[in-house]
Amino acid sequence: MIYSYAYSSTPTVAGDAFEANLANILDHSRWWNGENDVTGALLASEGGFVQILEGSQATIAVLIDNLRYDCRHRSMQSLLTEFRSERRFSRWAMARVPASAPDMQLDELSFSGSDRVQRLIERMAELAEA
Ligand SMILES: Cc1cc2nc3c(=O)[nH]c(=O)nc-3n(C[C@H](O)[C@H](O)[C@H](O)COP(=O)(O)O)c2cc1C
Repeated sequence: MIYSYAYSSTPTVAGDAFEANLANILDHSRWWNGENDVTGALLASEGGFVQILEGSQATIAVLIDNLRYDCRHRSMQSLLTEFRSERRFSRWAMARVPASAPDMQLDELSFSGSDRVQRLIERMAELAEA
């Protein structure tokens, strides 16, 4: 079974520093996740991050520990943990999900309710790109 974890968080910087951090995060994620059989997607805007991680539970636990101490974001909140028979993001070590779609504006998303989280994740899978 594949362990899947989703959370939201808030970037700590804006503007050029945000873009620079995001580029570094995606670069590092694509390398490390590729080495460690982790897949997933990152919805990123200055208004917030939503990330989905998929892999073995032990590997994702290590990554979550690192994420908790990463000062490029704050206020991590778990949205979903589940075991699945298949990955949703098997094609991507870390897909980027553009926040430009009207329903992906993070300051307007409401995460309360598991239906909404499921819908958000399905939408991220539709919009995922390299
Ligand atoms: C929003 C966000 C998402 C991240 N996603 C990943 C990821 O998918 N994979 C990864 O290896 N690091 C990711 N990182 C970076 C980790 O927080 C951390 O820098 C990385 O695991 C290296 O940690 P280390 O320098 O202590 O080894 C992310 C960071 C942020 C802020």
